Amino acid sequence: MHSSVSALPGLQDAQGRSYPYLRLSITDLCNFRCNYCLPEGCLDHHHHEALTIDEIRRLITAFAALGVQKVRLTGGEPTLRQDFTGIVRTIKQVPGIRKLAMTTNGYKMDQRVDGWLAAGIDAINVSVDSLDPRAFELITGHNRLREVMAGIERAFAGGLSAIKVNAVAMKGWNDTELDAFLTWIQHHPVSIRFIELMQTGTNQAFFQQHHVSGKTIQTLLLERGWVRKVRQVDAGPALEYCHSDYVGTVGLIMPYSRDFCNDCNRLRVTSLGQLQLCLFAESGIDLRGLLQSDDQYGELVATIRSALVHKEDGHFLGQGWAGGTQNLAQIGG
Ligand code: 5AD
Ligand code: SF4
Repeated sequence: MHSSVSALPGLQDAQGRSYPYLRLSITDLCNFRCNYCLPEGCLDHHHHEALTIDEIRRLITAFAALGVQKVRLTGGEPTLRQDFTGIVRTIKQVPGIRKLAMTTNGYKMDQRVDGWLAAGIDAINVSVDSLDPRAFELITGHNRLREVMAGIERAFAGGLSAIKVNAVAMKGWNDTELDAFLTWIQHHPVSIRFIELMQTGTNQAFFQQHHVSGKTIQTLLLERGWVRKVRQVDAGPALEYCHSDYVGTVGLIMPYSRDFCNDCNRLRVTSLGQLQLCLFAESGIDLRGLLQSDDQYGELVATIRSALVHKEDGHFLGQGWAGGTQNLAQIGG
């Protein structure tokens, strides 16, 4: 198709950060009501206007030409797209894409994960904020912990060698569960990432009450003999810890700690085709107008490349500034 693409230099911004990794939201609709994200449920969404498969193919083709090798599908809840497996198959066919990951809340995962893997998904992140069924229900609005855990087991049975589990650390909700999580991963190759609760446009009071620093968990891990792993070049923002008695690992995602943004290698595109240079950016750069025909390829690539020059050094969360981000369902975390 585009035979000259591999000759293009990769994406790089003014700080010299390069971007091998793109997070693509394929819908802003979610069926859960996580108390830190969408406590009232998803009242406002653009599910039916989300990027089509053809638009997604053009988008990923351009990013792949600029050096993106890994794509993660997010939402909202990405699997609410009826054409989810079609999207997966399409992206897997784009030359240059080596890894396709997804983030899910685990809804019907026990029934559907075989299909996701068959379509070509290489890695799965599942949100499990509590291992206590009652707390899980209170946090997410759904009594589905068993279904989610069965989905994770099913994914292992289907051949996935490792799974990442996201848990948002919240005072009063799951802060007494560290040992329960550790017991789980003693014999399961699960990488649990504890994510510091982030402030968004709509969760300010909740944030004030329940935010807890990742340092608290870090201290407990060190007391229990966990040691910091050496950071891989292409690693995400988590600080990873391991322990010789455990098959699984623990990651801490601490956006409130200093220097968190220095090695950010993420680019995000919303389900409406806006390129977001930061999770907390005020506004995005519209790419959708350039996804309407294969002929726009050159202009699309040029637009993405010049957009990167404007990526900020970091976010301003520490100053209480959440940019234009109302909740993370809008953009996929
Ligand atoms: N703070 C931290 N993590 C969040 N997520 C959603 N909203 C927030 C928030 N305000 C997480 C979800 C999921 C991932 C996609 O983003 O728990 O694991
Ligand atoms: Fe929960 Fe994710 Fe849905 Fe937000 S988008 S309500 S965090 S499942």
